[in-house]
Amino acid sequence: MDILVVGGGGREHAVIKSLKASRRSGKLYALPGNGGIARDAECVPVKATDIAGIVQFARTHKVDFAVVTPDDPLVLGCVDALEEAGIPCFGPNKAAAIIEGSKVFSKELMKKYGIPTAASETFSSADAALAYLKTARYPTVVKADGLALGKGAVIVQNYAEAEKAIGDIMVNKVFGASGDRVLIEEFLTGPEVSVLTFTDGKTVVPMVSSMDHKRAGDGDEGLNTGGMGTIAPNPYYTKEIADECMRTIFLPTVAAMNAEGRPFKGCLYFGLMLTPDGPKVIEYNCRFGDPETQVVLPLLKSDLLEIMLAVRGGTLTPDMVRFSDGAACCVVLASEGYPQKYETGFEITLPQTERGEEIYVAGAKLSGDNLVTAGGRVLGAVATADTLEDAVARAYALAGRIRFQNAYMRRDIGRRALKALGRG
Ligand code: AMP
Ligand code: GLY
Repeated sequence: MDILVVGGGGREHAVIKSLKASRRSGKLYALPGNGGIARDAECVPVKATDIAGIVQFARTHKVDFAVVTPDDPLVLGCVDALEEAGIPCFGPNKAAAIIEGSKVFSKELMKKYGIPTAASETFSSADAALAYLKTARYPTVVKADGLALGKGAVIVQNYAEAEKAIGDIMVNKVFGASGDRVLIEEFLTGPEVSVLTFTDGKTVVPMVSSMDHKRAGDGDEGLNTGGMGTIAPNPYYTKEIADECMRTIFLPTVAAMNAEGRPFKGCLYFGLMLTPDGPKVIEYNCRFGDPETQVVLPLLKSDLLEIMLAVRGGTLTPDMVRFSDGAACCVVLASEGYPQKYETGFEITLPQTERGEEIYVAGAKLSGDNLVTAGGRVLGAVATADTLEDAVARAYALAGRIRFQNAYMRRDIGRRALKALGRG
């Protein structure tokens, strides 16, 4: 089967490498892909948000299947447009993608169906939000309703910080129309867990759990980023907690979407916080997480394409999704200065990888035959091993063999997880 993958980050590189290993995969296209993905798929310069361009390409190249992974095209209805053109897709349609596209929608869904989440209030005017914030308990969390490049949640410690957040989001519209409404949410505490699941709208099959490291600096200090590294499985996510999440969160969410006439098919991502009162939903994503996918897919033993076809066809069963018992670690190499100002255009030297090592490229492009840096997060160095210690050590050893000027990485990916295992 010839397959088109929409997107061009490290997550898409991981998806493409897994698809490439499938027995039934034929030609692979990435729209737009990137300079590193170009080794594994034909990259076509069509933007992930150019829905008409994507449909046209899929038609003229007669692709058999499309995988849409980034949030924007999903929320814009890319799957609807491709399916209308007769191209079967992996990914939710627009009606279902709203579970990520609108935090007001997802919060109301959780309230209506009794799915555990932080208490919150919704506001559509800055004045009303500020009046509420005058008497709120701090810290509290201000969230823009719509998509905001993962930067739409601000934890504020006092009224002055809250006033700035509301000014940015609702008045200065730093995230555009995504800030027309805000949620003001109870501040929760506890370890965070990412759980990606496959669902065909009936059956929900969780993948191995993972832990993101969102802050730029060691010790979880500094600014929020798109993710500086991940490990899997997440040691806080015990079998007991997994069973509870299936019962109180995963199955009720899939049922709620069906009840709302918005059946969800694709990868449904649960961002969870394990609070003293039990697991609660921090956020839903309508897609694979980045960089969670970079540690989850290397542990997948089953054929990704077969799973995706079953999700599309409504024939998913739990036995189709098998993971190895090992662990994985992804260390992101970023451009120094990310997530703020950074320079790009530096040549990247990639080493040979051994079995159990992967390099998933995100912000890089080809300049002639050379791969050069072109973004904040440049690539992920990924390793799998029998134990988390070994996966972390191997990922850092691999990262150390990758060279480019101005490279920056956190030095403590996996440390918190190893501590939780009593091995830190
Ligand atoms: P989000 O964009 O909703 O994923 O939020 C980004 C990050 O902000 C999360 O990964 C959490 O670390 C933090 N966060 C979001 N909501 C809350 C909350 N209600 N309480 C505490 N931390 C939160
Ligand atoms: N790693 C979090 C996300 O993909 O949104």
